[in-house]
Amino acid sequence: MSTSPVSLLPFNTFGLAQNARTLLVLEQRSQLPELWRSLRSELPLFVGEGSNLLFTAPFEGTVLVNRLKGITVSDVGDAWLVRAEGGEGWHGLVCWTLEQGMPGLENLALIPGTVGAAPIQNIGAYGVELAQFCEAVESFDWDSGEIRHWSAADCAFGYRDSVFKHAARRHLILSLTLRLPKAWKAVLGYGPLAALGATASPGQIFEQVCATRRSKLPDPGALGNAGSFFKNPKVGEAQAEALRLAWPALPVYPAEPGLVKLAAGWLIDQAGLRGCRLGGAGVHEHQALVLVNLGGATAEEIVRLAALVRERVEQQFGVRLEPEVRMMGPRDETNLDEVLACLN
Ligand code: FAD
Ligand code: EPU
Repeated sequence: MSTSPVSLLPFNTFGLAQNARTLLVLEQRSQLPELWRSLRSELPLFVGEGSNLLFTAPFEGTVLVNRLKGITVSDVGDAWLVRAEGGEGWHGLVCWTLEQGMPGLENLALIPGTVGAAPIQNIGAYGVELAQFCEAVESFDWDSGEIRHWSAADCAFGYRDSVFKHAARRHLILSLTLRLPKAWKAVLGYGPLAALGATASPGQIFEQVCATRRSKLPDPGALGNAGSFFKNPKVGEAQAEALRLAWPALPVYPAEPGLVKLAAGWLIDQAGLRGCRLGGAGVHEHQALVLVNLGGATAEEIVRLAALVRERVEQQFGVRLEPEVRMMGPRDETNLDEVLACLN
């Protein structure tokens, strides 16, 4: 436990020097009843590694950092059930399961952040989403002070979405149980993975995923960022067809019936914004969907750059981008207009 105010610099991968009034680290479940009693009315902000967060203002409350640790496995015949505490690192869990000879998570290697945050936006990469492996989620309900158990269906997972995303500050995720089927099947649909061929091993896929990610995505330790700043937008098939007539190279991915997903990074790149900067904030040179802190950026610069990117893409393609990153100011926001209104 530390005293207030406290710097959030070690708790956000954008590398912004914002403060919180108080910061508490949850290391053992036995701390929960007392923490809940003292913070019940206040509702703390739950944070893992801050790799999907942008602190747009000093946080006038308590940040509760989840560092609960532990992994257990049970063999249920055709699968392994892996239960990990919310403060475990996600990439560490991926490596650990592979080392134990339990493949499945290799496509999700090197995604920053904690296990407890993984269900919030249903993390995904290279053709795989957490939802495909999620067996159960255990949470602490901050309203009632009770432990709750969620099946995968309860979680209502979607693309970068879940039931928790809409009430993330109410349900503190304590643990996640994954079902890893013993009948492993490679997922090789994504470009650089297809080149591995049908006999690719989990280890080879893991290595390829890590190499691909390192070539595109900036290491937050070297260049502050929170991964993709925007979600890939979904549009109707007719709109995508019209766009394709004008831009035949437009990447289009399948989504729900009647909808397709467009590559926001491609749209931003085609709008001529890759590498552009606003003060200390920049559009990453190797991946235009990632906004970066080039050094000394303020949250306002990052938000204004995001607004500029959204405006230019909308002008050129008629497609409105929505942030993926959670913006924490007076409120927990993914609505850029609300955040801009607070800056003005
Ligand atoms: P935080 O950023 O700390 O929190 C994110 C949200 O979850 C906040 O709303 C927070 O309040 C809430 N939260 C955190 N922990 C808990 C908890 N225990 N209980 C309840 N609520 C909680 N994401 C992908 O899906 N795919 C990618 O390929 C990907 N690549 C990335 C690459 C880079 C370089 C970076 C920096 C980020 C990337 N991300 C990606 C985003 C990020 O890694 C994920 O969103 C990750 O799950 C965030 O984990 P975290 O612990 O840092 O959560
Ligand atoms: N592209 C460009 N220019 C760019 C960036 C991308 O032309 O500057 C093109 C690429 O060439 C490719 C397409 O856009 O044809 C898609 O790019 P990429 O494969 O790099 O993936 P993405 O759609 O930009 C998504 C996720 C990533 C995830 C990767 C891999 C979202 C919002 N982002 O990015 O997740 O790692 O796919 O599966 O869905 C994150 O969520 O933070 C994140 C990094």
